[in-house]
Amino acid sequence: MNLKIISSVDLKGKKVLLRTDFNVPVKDGAVSDDTRIRESLPTIKLLIAAGARIAIVSHLGRPKGGVNPEFSLKPVAQKLSELLEQPVMTLDDCVGESVKSTVSVLPEGGIVLLENVRFHPEEEANDPEFAKKLADGFDIYVSDAFGTVHRAHASTAGVSAFLPSYAGLLVEKEVRVLSSLIENPVHPVCLIVGGAKVDTKIGILEKFLTLADSFLIGGALANTFLAAQGVKIGTSLFEPEKVPVAKKFLEAAKAAGKTVLLPVDAVIAAEVAAGTPVSAVTISEVPDNMKILDIGLESRKLFAAEIAKSKTIIWNGPMGLNEIPEFAEGTRAVGVAVSEATASATKTSGAASVLGGGDTIDAIHALNLDEKSFTHISTGGGAMLEFLEGKDLPGVKVLMI
Ligand code: 3PG
Repeated sequence: MNLKIISSVDLKGKKVLLRTDFNVPVKDGAVSDDTRIRESLPTIKLLIAAGARIAIVSHLGRPKGGVNPEFSLKPVAQKLSELLEQPVMTLDDCVGESVKSTVSVLPEGGIVLLENVRFHPEEEANDPEFAKKLADGFDIYVSDAFGTVHRAHASTAGVSAFLPSYAGLLVEKEVRVLSSLIENPVHPVCLIVGGAKVDTKIGILEKFLTLADSFLIGGALANTFLAAQGVKIGTSLFEPEKVPVAKKFLEAAKAAGKTVLLPVDAVIAAEVAAGTPVSAVTISEVPDNMKILDIGLESRKLFAAEIAKSKTIIWNGPMGLNEIPEFAEGTRAVGVAVSEATASATKTSGAASVLGGGDTIDAIHALNLDEKSFTHISTGGGAMLEFLEGKDLPGVKVLMI
């Protein structure tokens, strides 16, 4: 995929509008996970070193087009300033005279973080007038917001009609790594999906019917697939209206000779709560009044054995309700298996493990699994899935040569 890359541009003294995805968790006024901020540091440092004047624009959360202090980017400025060890100014808006006048007097290498672009309803509407206002006073637009490239918004797509537009280093890296998975994957390819919703995962499952050799399905997502096989799942969360979709996928995978592993046993409880009594059962023995909340021991072994055989592993979505320790062990087992397969693979040849999705990354951190033991941790959730599905992503399209 041919992108216009920022490293090819003379940036000295240029006023750069940098779109990042600083949609990070904020607790009690402070950033509680700075992964996405750290991932954009190479681009920001490149811009600083090249002498650009930098205004960063991002969204945070879903404030529904209105100003809401709960979704302010001010805590992000604080964190960014700590990471860069230099001051980061803030403004109360992302468009208008205050932006223009501040940027015009920024020193080379200076940074201002604009306020949440989603405080304006025109952002998500991709309003061209608003996009023009965003571009006003700048020389160049750079996108490093891989996590948001699947959104056709003013700051991710519309703005590029008014400024020369380039990919930042993070977008370049994500596109390069993810492209290699769909263009030239090393087999056997194993796709692991978890989480809750069939709709968000069915696209990648279908796309990978031709690319993957095996599919491991966990999380509440698996319950819908188990229901499609006629397994009784008690009071477990599942999507009855998606059972036909799940059934169709299972039939297609069988016809194509693919391996599909669903949980063969489960950790169950009557209630979703920490400290609740839990038990383990084989999947055919889930009582009517119990919920499946994690994959069981046998499933973990089965999944780990499949992962160990694979040369390319793509993982999106936890295996259970991993926020509650009693239901986190399935996700841990998969995480450990993927990291071990990556370590042994790097000693031989060309294998890769790619993870993505906020919940998966949160799980990796909460379980203290080392980020470095995976080949690539994508900053995209929906963006990674849609990219791998082969969809045209509006925020990538505008950066292509
Ligand atoms: C994400 O967290 O996936 C991105 O920041 C996009 O956020 P959105 O789903 O609210 O558009």
